Amino acid sequence: MEKHEIQLLIEQLYQEFESNHDGQVATYIPELGKADPKLFGICLTTADNRTFEVGDCDCPFTIQSISKPFTYGMAIEELGHEKVFRHVGVEPSGDTFNSIELQNGTNKPFNPMINTGAITVTALLHARHGDKAFEHILERFSDAAGRQLKMDEEVYASESRTGHRNRAIAYLLLNFGMVHEEAEDALDLYFRQCSILVSCRDLSAMAATLSNMGQNPKTGKQVFDIRCVKDMLSIMFTCGMYDYSGQWAYEVGVPAKSGVSGGVMAVVNRQLGIATYSPRLDSHGNSMRGIKVSTELASRLGLHAFEFSNVGSGYLEVVL
Ligand code: DON
Repeated sequence: MEKHEIQLLIEQLYQEFESNHDGQVATYIPELGKADPKLFGICLTTADNRTFEVGDCDCPFTIQSISKPFTYGMAIEELGHEKVFRHVGVEPSGDTFNSIELQNGTNKPFNPMINTGAITVTALLHARHGDKAFEHILERFSDAAGRQLKMDEEVYASESRTGHRNRAIAYLLLNFGMVHEEAEDALDLYFRQCSILVSCRDLSAMAATLSNMGQNPKTGKQVFDIRCVKDMLSIMFTCGMYDYSGQWAYEVGVPAKSGVSGGVMAVVNRQLGIATYSPRLDSHGNSMRGIKVSTELASRLGLHAFEFSNVGSGYLEVVL
């Protein structure tokens, strides 16, 4: 049988970038430094459940910051938009993901994709679920991936031991009343959520779940409320790639999220979930090959949200 055009395309991109060894594996969490820098995978899952993959798509790695849009969606779904917005803003900060800064005047974190905002969101979930919070997060992430996920104990212990900057952030948030008294426990939950193991294939299924209005295309399960998915994708679009978010929106033009272990997840609304895995990072903390593959995919497949072929609201077409 002839190979599908999309399969041929990702195989071509894999070959094109396989020899690219730019960037460095993250070492600030000591355990992440053990990752094999050669690993490279590309996996696409469509909203109607077709999968195309090449390279290391089975290899487990910790989800890290790609957890952030999911916990944000869960918080909005469970606590309501207003309560979450009282604690975390929706403005790009233009600064690095671990900046120690809050918005002037309100003392709110700028957005939930940087550590100040993500720890605040996790604290909201911790305040609601207490000891059961991690189990709850793991279950929702597993539903999004379409299989039971687990946590990497070594990476969790490693970050927990060395995450002094995040500890400082948690106490700053406590000082301003943005997190509840159990700031240490909330931080522990954040370290655990970042240490959930996924493969490139899992990430593409999670992205496809977002592309498919919150319903996992493999299992048919409605994982996220459709209204929260809009919030998750909006914040990924404006803030998902840290201080590279503007350039990403300009060049790639789809909501996305990256993590320091080397994953990038991108969502083409109503059509496709894209995931790449390659542990070498640029200075922003984004996977070098992940950025290159996504940029090429967007340009060759016309994925950008403002591509001329995108007609916008179907409803408007009917009423005009
Ligand atoms: O908070 C941290 O430092 C990590 N657990 C997650 C950081 C992360 O993935 C940022 N990504 N670019």
